[in-house]
Amino acid sequence: MADPVEPALVEIENLSKHFGEGETRVDALRGVSLQVFPGQIVGLLGASGSGKTTLLNCVGCILEPNGGRMTLDGDVVYDDRWLRSDLRRLRLEKVGFIFQFHNLLPFLNCADNVGLVLQLAGFGAAAARARAIELLDYFEVGRHKDRMPAQLSGGEAQRVAIARALANRPRIILADEPTASLDSHRAGIVMDLLRKIAVEQHAAIIAVTHDEKIFGRFDEVFHLRDGQLDADAAGGRRFEPTDMQTSARHDRAEC
Ligand SMILES: Nc1ncnc2c1ncn2[C@@H]1O[C@H](COP(=O)(O)OP(=O)(O)OP(=O)(O)O)[C@@H](O)[C@H]1O
Ligand SMILES: [Mg+2]
Repeated sequence: MADPVEPALVEIENLSKHFGEGETRVDALRGVSLQVFPGQIVGLLGASGSGKTTLLNCVGCILEPNGGRMTLDGDVVYDDRWLRSDLRRLRLEKVGFIFQFHNLLPFLNCADNVGLVLQLAGFGAAAARARAIELLDYFEVGRHKDRMPAQLSGGEAQRVAIARALANRPRIILADEPTASLDSHRAGIVMDLLRKIAVEQHAAIIAVTHDEKIFGRFDEVFHLRDGQLDADAAGGRRFEPTDMQTSARHDRAEC
């Protein structure tokens, strides 16, 4: 018998967000509903200004929505207002961000860029550095641990940024154009890494993209137009796990 499908890690219902008021008001999200399940990588597509980054920032608890409901990893965090007072901790524990232009801190070397996140999460300095180096090795940029971000290629910097986003083993990973600055070979490597993380950490990944090279790599694709999801995507859909995800679940159950 097939495993019961696990509950969604990200569940939003009828979420809205506007900026400004009166004549200058922009309705960036208008009643968006979707669900993302463990092990799933979903793509978020849409023209410039359609609300993609706003949606990621709401899910990542960086922007407060103006209405609707949002549940992260089973906890209702927003229901017409923030219900959690510890949003910073929630972000540190549950959410990893990968930004379009990697956003590495220019004045810290690679190991410290990754280690800082771990220290914020409570690791001591030595343990944070050791885990940071382990992660950089995993993403095959360990040899650059003492380099500054400006001394890396675009693809290397993006892998350091991914190592940083994943340092805390977040279950919810939000990526804004993770492959935008990369050629198709390197974009493929990044997507392979995200797939591995989704399967191994049982994470839910939402990735904004304009990049046609990677459209085929998503389990599901949502289209935003003027702050609304296309009718066929609204309301969220059940996710059927792929064979690989099902076997990863069995592996975990066995350990
Ligand atoms: N802080 C802000 N203040 C006012 N308006 C904003 C703000 N952030 C976004 N907007 C507006 O909200 C709308 C959605 O913006 P958003 O950044 O989410 O678009 P996007 O889909 O990510 O676009 P792009 O593909 O260009 O990154 C746009 O009209 C934008 O101008
Ligand atoms: Mg954007």
